[in-house]
Amino acid sequence: MKPRTQTCGQLRSSEGGQRVRLMGWVQRRRDHGMLIFIDLRDRTGLTQVVFNAERNAAVHQAAHALRPECVVAVEGVVAARPAESKNPDLPTGEIEVLVDALEILNEARTPPFQIEDDAEVTEALRLKYRYLDLRRPRMQRLLGLRHAVAQYIRAFLNAEGFLEVETPMLTKSTPEGARDYLVPSRVNPGSFYALPQSPQLFKQVLMAAGMDRYYQVARCFRDEDLRNDRQPEFTQIDVEMSFVDREQVMAVMERMIAGVFRETAGIELTLPFPRMTHAEAMGRYGSDKPDLRFGMPLHDMSGFAAKSDFKVFKDAVAKGGMVKALIVKGGASMARSRIDALGETAKSFGAKGLAWVKIVDGGQLESVIAKFLDARSLLAALPDAAVGDLLLFGADKPNVVHDVLGRLRLQLGEELNLIDQKAWRPLWVVDFPLLDYDPEQKRYVFMHNPFAAPLDEDVALLDADPLKAKAKAYDMVLNGNEIGGGSIRNHRSDIQLRILDLLGINKEQAQEKFGFLLDALEYGTPPHGGIAFGLDRLIMLLGGADSIRDVIAFPKTQKAQCPMTEAPSPITQDQLKELHIKLDRID
Ligand code: AMO
Ligand code: AMP
Repeated sequence: MKPRTQTCGQLRSSEGGQRVRLMGWVQRRRDHGMLIFIDLRDRTGLTQVVFNAERNAAVHQAAHALRPECVVAVEGVVAARPAESKNPDLPTGEIEVLVDALEILNEARTPPFQIEDDAEVTEALRLKYRYLDLRRPRMQRLLGLRHAVAQYIRAFLNAEGFLEVETPMLTKSTPEGARDYLVPSRVNPGSFYALPQSPQLFKQVLMAAGMDRYYQVARCFRDEDLRNDRQPEFTQIDVEMSFVDREQVMAVMERMIAGVFRETAGIELTLPFPRMTHAEAMGRYGSDKPDLRFGMPLHDMSGFAAKSDFKVFKDAVAKGGMVKALIVKGGASMARSRIDALGETAKSFGAKGLAWVKIVDGGQLESVIAKFLDARSLLAALPDAAVGDLLLFGADKPNVVHDVLGRLRLQLGEELNLIDQKAWRPLWVVDFPLLDYDPEQKRYVFMHNPFAAPLDEDVALLDADPLKAKAKAYDMVLNGNEIGGGSIRNHRSDIQLRILDLLGINKEQAQEKFGFLLDALEYGTPPHGGIAFGLDRLIMLLGGADSIRDVIAFPKTQKAQCPMTEAPSPITQDQLKELHIKLDRID
């Protein structure tokens, strides 16, 4: 096959008069009788090619056969378009190609949807015909952005002295908190590999191995409930460093992220990123990943509530809970039905109710509970509130109040258009608690992963009051999304074993699960720490996509299926037999 001379996005008026050969897909055919116009498309763009019956009758005749998505090669001469048909929106809009020869390289069936950005099409159909979906300019742009970000990150980390090392896919379970995907071993009947939830253990072992600075663009697998920002198979930019503390990890990583934004999107992020403690994030925004693109913080009203005559408020505080309020600026004009709907939403988030108060003329309170509240002391306790505002109250245990009001804040931010959609507000959330208490399992569970180190000054708390111990952990948060998380690790086995013990993993169990790591800690492992970024989430935000499915070439559906390949699928009896697996009856 004779090669093409240019791609479909390349030609400009400077090529006028040149003989060229282009190849691509037929985007559109417009038949004007003696003239037939084709928009020829490839990844780089569109070029208009013209079949003129007066120039070449046979080729003009052949062009009648061209259907959308046919693959063709055309040869012809680049000509300036007549002034009235120049298209300033198209990079190639100054020119067209006058065709002398046409070769149909492949026919195409009528596609189930149009290859255009705004085609009306369900996601199920897009995923089934993903090769057609990916031909759309928006999808090509997103995959191009993904490539650019990954390449920038590689170049950045290479220049900073990091080594890219691959770690196994067939491995042992890594405790990141989700369910494992398992792979049976034919040659070891009854034994299974786990696909990695992350390279966590291996990257720590690489630090023990003296690699000093490691990175990997790593595929991770987690069998968990899927959402728009969660896939069963996703990609991390995984990093680990030796001889560092938190600040050093955060400093190099925020430079990397700022570089990504600058070089791939022309966005300047100010360094250093603000740091916020976990306690402040929860207390002020009701979330460990606060969206700082708008205000509307939570206000602690427990002091006022304890002294009020409203039983719900008094009881909540008396039982060790709290009362917090959101101020909806100008919300006093909100209709009762809308406030009631907010109350229902709050209940769906787990609240017992949502008390509300309108501040009306003269600083009077308007509310079904107004008679229990003293207007003056309420306004004194809430100096940010003013006449015309609506106050929404949560009274409960702190985690319920924070969760409910935090989610309500986000919903109101959207509904009331308070969010600056053009803003980029990164921050670090630090000083996470090391442990949480799970009342169902009646035991401590880890907040980040079991390898995070406690703050030096909190080591004694592991014995005295474990829930008070904070971890040397950090999350990078952007516009309300957790895009990365990591920690300094335990490089001494005594502290690591103590933490595992608190998590209910005794020495024997620990030895069985990840004895190799514990052994490595005893052979001179340096102090180390790292982080992993969710590459898919980062691209989703940078590219303005609504779902990480749009930035992954071949993603899975909500049910973890691939409509194109139809994975997962049953396997044959012979395959099962070879693996020594018998299935339960599945109805
Ligand atoms: P973590 O579990 O926080 O940390 O994961 C790091 C980042 O990966 C992204 N992420 C996901 N993206 C898409 N789909 C998923 N199912 C999914 N789960 C997580 C998030 C998250 O911030 N080993 C540690 C890192 C470390 O400590 O160095 C880890 O995996 O953006
Ligand atoms: P009640 O006295 O139960 O009728 O409640 C009076 C108001 O207080 C209603 O608006 C309820 O939604 C609200 N309320 C009840 N329980 C709570 C709670 N735990 N937190 C906040 N508001 C509540």
